[in-house]
Amino acid sequence: MINSLQDRIQLNNGINIPGIGLGVYKVWEDQEAADTVRTAINQGYRLIDTASFYDNEVGVGQGVQEADANREDVFITSKVWNEEQGYDETLRAFEQSLQKLNMDYLDLYLIHWPVTGKYEDTWKAMERLYSEGMIKSIGVSNFHKHHLEKLFVKANEKPVVNQVEFHPHLIQREVKQYCEREDIKLEAWSPLKRGQVLEEDVIVSLAEKYQKTPAQIILRWDIEQEVITIPKSTNEKRMKENTDIFDFQLTKEEVETINNLHCDSRTGPNPDEF
Ligand SMILES: NC(=O)c1ccc[n+]([C@@H]2O[C@H](COP(=O)([O-])OP(=O)(O)OC[C@H]3O[C@@H](n4cnc5c(N)ncnc54)[C@H](OP(=O)(O)O)[C@@H]3O)[C@@H](O)[C@H]2O)c1
Repeated sequence: MINSLQDRIQLNNGINIPGIGLGVYKVWEDQEAADTVRTAINQGYRLIDTASFYDNEVGVGQGVQEADANREDVFITSKVWNEEQGYDETLRAFEQSLQKLNMDYLDLYLIHWPVTGKYEDTWKAMERLYSEGMIKSIGVSNFHKHHLEKLFVKANEKPVVNQVEFHPHLIQREVKQYCEREDIKLEAWSPLKRGQVLEEDVIVSLAEKYQKTPAQIILRWDIEQEVITIPKSTNEKRMKENTDIFDFQLTKEEVETINNLHCDSRTGPNPDEF
């Protein structure tokens, strides 16, 4: 388990990823993205999660450049959007993301959603970029078990992560177990369910017990399960709060109590229906 904001977890290709990072969905491309990313890195964040769909890659790249850390020490994730999928399209989309970010490689590139009839070709293009060293690791997002099984039929490389919606209302038991078995790390998007799980009684009483905030209880629950987590905040105080989770530990029973809040409720679409 990670013990600090800089601690990393080993992926199945030997590359290490920080166990907690900053998500930047709905962080606007203007100065906000650059300011947010710079502030986060200067606070010690070493993982930034963006996507071409978020339309803020220019600001993210600027923030990384302005921050007090070397590019090599910051782990940058981006994603190929649904309309950009297919072999040639993915190669082009990757080039565009790289240009916008003003970088010469990506640490991790993900298939944003499993677009039927497209994602296998998208994966082939990502394997090519990976073999050329343009991307250090490749992975997927919003893949159910059956999408992964289908991908494996033609894949030469295994995804290193599967980034899925994951929070106390959606504990993703099936795909989590499958990914654990296949040595694919699960990464939690909307770990705070965009604020909709912070008032759950169980979470509030654990927050009181440990003198922590509800958000800190949930993010601690993530890391104790070895789930990489990427809460989004543009607020300096909440960014800090979200990483101040290394001075307490939940018991196994408490982790299970939070698991029991599962009610199969999503903030985003089901990958089978999007
Ligand atoms: N792969 C995918 O399909 C996919 C889909 C969605 C998201 N993602 C990724 O996952 C990241 C996180 O998900 P998300 O942005 O949807 O939701 P989230 O991280 O669960 O929640 C973000 C919301 O919670 C607030 N917040 C943050 N820290 C807080 C705290 N300590 N206390 C109270 N409120 C707090 C934020 O407001 P403030 O900014 O005002 O603090 C924001 O409104 C995204 O930014 C993106 O990088 C990926």
